[in-house]
Amino acid sequence: MRRKLVIGNWKMNGSLAANSVLLRGIAAGPANQNVTTAVCAPAPYLAQCQAELAGTAIAWGGQDVSAYAAGAYTGEVAASMLQDFGCRYVLVGHSERRAYHHETNELVAQKARAALDAGLTPVVCVGETLAEREAGRTNVVVCAQLQAVLDVLENPALEKLVLAYEPVWAIGTGRTATPALAQELHAALRKQVAVRSESAAATIAILYGGSMKPENAKDLLAQRDIDGGLIGGAALKAKDFLAITGAA
Ligand code: G3H
Repeated sequence: MRRKLVIGNWKMNGSLAANSVLLRGIAAGPANQNVTTAVCAPAPYLAQCQAELAGTAIAWGGQDVSAYAAGAYTGEVAASMLQDFGCRYVLVGHSERRAYHHETNELVAQKARAALDAGLTPVVCVGETLAEREAGRTNVVVCAQLQAVLDVLENPALEKLVLAYEPVWAIGTGRTATPALAQELHAALRKQVAVRSESAAATIAILYGGSMKPENAKDLLAQRDIDGGLIGGAALKAKDFLAITGAA
């Protein structure tokens, strides 16, 4: 039985004042013992997350990480720096990074590896665009995204991976994958992991992301291979985020 994991991705939203209200709201909410909860904040606010969430059951993490350990990479944030600020998780290969920053499957794989090497849990995001889905290429695209990561990881590191299936057409659009459609993809991802390692396939959490909200969370999270959620818009309001963690 895999423990549920719900992660809020704030994306490029927030301010010291707004984050404080949000973090306190989340921390004050009813704890769901069956769920691990985390927020992924913009890098400048990780110290604030550390200060406000230390001692609570809520973990925090970054939204991106460099593939390199240190050096002349202006603007990049190393995995060890995220560690310094108490991060447990880091998102890797979010579709917005892939689309706007041209991150390739290979770069995403290197980032996942850099995160694991530093003791962080990478949340590797995969997902197809609407055009890819309409062209019948969903499985080819998503499997290639996952395979690049599987190719650079061995057990026991592989077992620590978290995956997030986020169909790009469902992100921020209000259009959610049906529970059945998401389940089908999640099962396919798990099967692909099993080819490399049965134990990793049984262990790895596969989150769903893409317009998950209080109204649809329960049905999505009830699916056999959906182990949690990666929440964007609904993670910016404590009430909505807590409703989702409560549904898990
Ligand atoms: O990382 C989160 C996803 O991009 C989902 O965002 O819940 O706003 O659709 P959304």
